[in-house]
Amino acid sequence: MSLSTSPSDLPALTSPEVVSDPYAFYRRLRAERPLHFDEGTGSYLITRHAAVSAGYRSATYTTKNYEWQLEPVLGKTVLQFEGSEHAKKRALVSPYFRGKGLENWMAPIMRNVAGLLDDLVQRNVDELLGRLIPGTEVDILAEFGHYVPVYTQAEVLGLPKSDFDQFNDWYNRIIDFLGNLAKDPLVHESGLAATRELRAYLRPIIAERRSAPGEDLVSALVTAEVDGEQLDDEEVLANISILLAAGSDTTDSALGNIFNHLLIDRSNWEALLDDRGLVPIAIGEMLRVTPPSQMNGRILSEETEIEGEALPAGTWVNLVIASANRDERRFENSEKFDMFRTDMDHSKAFSASGEHFAFGYGRHFCLGAMLAKMQMEISLNAVLDRFPRMRLADGFIPVEKGLKMRAPREMQVVL
Ligand code: HEM
Repeated sequence: MSLSTSPSDLPALTSPEVVSDPYAFYRRLRAERPLHFDEGTGSYLITRHAAVSAGYRSATYTTKNYEWQLEPVLGKTVLQFEGSEHAKKRALVSPYFRGKGLENWMAPIMRNVAGLLDDLVQRNVDELLGRLIPGTEVDILAEFGHYVPVYTQAEVLGLPKSDFDQFNDWYNRIIDFLGNLAKDPLVHESGLAATRELRAYLRPIIAERRSAPGEDLVSALVTAEVDGEQLDDEEVLANISILLAAGSDTTDSALGNIFNHLLIDRSNWEALLDDRGLVPIAIGEMLRVTPPSQMNGRILSEETEIEGEALPAGTWVNLVIASANRDERRFENSEKFDMFRTDMDHSKAFSASGEHFAFGYGRHFCLGAMLAKMQMEISLNAVLDRFPRMRLADGFIPVEKGLKMRAPREMQVVL
């Protein structure tokens, strides 16, 4: 029997004990069993930085797991393609994500307005914060954080922001489907139903944009061409769905996590008020120590050696980002949020450098990393400007929730 499957007193991944504090569980795994078979899910957990890094880069770690983790709710997205097909699909959607590359999609708008996307985010952030009054107590996530990414996505896609509640509900149910490691049938069904509703909502919009394209991203997707090929309706639906799902909950969670770090130890907040240059550094450090997306699955395409053990083709492994990012072999005081640490290159925190894995690494590295960075920076700077005295409400203790996606879902503050 191998070490990874030998009997132990380790709790199950989906047990309440791990869900309440996954970081303690991962700490034990890194020390005792860097490769661990979790019986409940039937997957192997890989928890050290070096092995996670190798996994992301290796061609034998395929994304076939998304056939059941995502395809039923998103359709076949860029995450599932490999090799040259992946490069082609990624090329089709990537100009949108790369800030300035946006002009390729929305040439007429971009010719007129430089920095369109920054302005769009800033305008939405100002509109949302304009409703809030200094000195009052609010849930800053319910009133602000949850809205920012959905408003950005909706406006870029040319969908009405007034449908916020619907988008929010759909993407939450779709993300819960992806995170359903405990295989709860209700969560499964709810995710499938959300997809049906989202698709029924989008189909007429796609048809309309095909016959009369505008300057929005849905129009850009229906008219886009790479090597003379266009996207069919299914592909357009998959692309819109992944934008809404991959871009919303992640950015939303990231905002929850950053407010948490800054307010639970308010000296961090004060440091940012004194030096705004720390804003991107604080965001990068938050992504390292509390990544919103805590693990990525992979299926091995052939026998592969991991931490000294050979696992057969077809094995489901989880690259545990939340653990690798806190590996004491890689970072000193690894479990501490420390904006002044010198063992992470902060200038590389948003690129595919493998410093940390909050955006993945290798060929599926997050396409939205720069868009996420921009939204988080604008949001945080705007809150610091308007509500410099913001603090946690008396007696309120933020609680992180979730296993695959993790963040506080509520944040009572006095503005
Ligand atoms: C803080 C915010 C974000 C986090 C933490 C995050 C995290 C991730 C991670 C971990 C992956 C790798 C998945 C894997 O390898 O299996 C990924 C991929 C991806 N992300 Fe993000 N993401 C964020 C924001 C966004 C945004 C704003 C968008 C778009 C609007 C986006 C779109 C994508 C897409 C399309 C992929 C797939 C890329 C490919 O397969 O080549 N993400 N993201």
